Amino acid sequence: MNNHYSFIGGHEGPWRVTRCHAVVGEPVDAVQRLNVVNTPASQLNQRGTWVLQGFTSNVRYAERHEITQLRARQEGLNRPASTCAALIPIKKNAQWWALSQDERRAIFEAQSHHTEIGLAYLPEIARQLHHSRDLGEPFDFLTWFEFAPEHTDVFDELLVKLRASEEWKYVEREVDIRLLR
Ligand code: HEM
Repeated sequence: MNNHYSFIGGHEGPWRVTRCHAVVGEPVDAVQRLNVVNTPASQLNQRGTWVLQGFTSNVRYAERHEITQLRARQEGLNRPASTCAALIPIKKNAQWWALSQDERRAIFEAQSHHTEIGLAYLPEIARQLHHSRDLGEPFDFLTWFEFAPEHTDVFDELLVKLRASEEWKYVEREVDIRLLR
């Protein structure tokens, strides 16, 4: 199974970049288009202006009752109506990574209600989390979201809630890249 993905920013790809905004920390270079391929960066022929890579994985924090709710409500990527997408690369600080798994889970859910908040936005928002930290990448996570244009406002509302949470105090770099196809 190849669970490795590259997000190639440049002049090619089905996604047109409509906005590229550094929420916190260093920006990434502005590009016109984005291509997402199921290939590790080391095997790419075309590298564009930049490449961010990550891999899909098993859950770290979600508990059984949350997994059950997520599976009941979420829809997959590539829905025809999902002509909008967001790629939001995120890096958390050293303090976060020095915590234990149970301390991180407590901040993530008990204090920040990440899953509880996010569940209210399903199925309108489809999502995929990619892990990058263990690849030595500049970001720890590449978060990917797809939705219909009429759900842009609710997606922005979700971001306001999550960015106000305790969990986001540990975010030291975040770039919000919006896309249309
Ligand atoms: C992780 C749900 C939206 C960023 C997770 C996890 C769940 C979840 C269940 C934990 C996965 C695990 O157990 O390993 C949701 C739902 C959302 C949503 C239902 C609704 C659309 C967002 C948004 C962002 C985001 C909008 C970014 C702006 C992240 C990050 C992680 C994560 C960075 C990894 C956290 C870590 O491992 O430290 N999300 N999420 N999520 N989510 Fe969300």
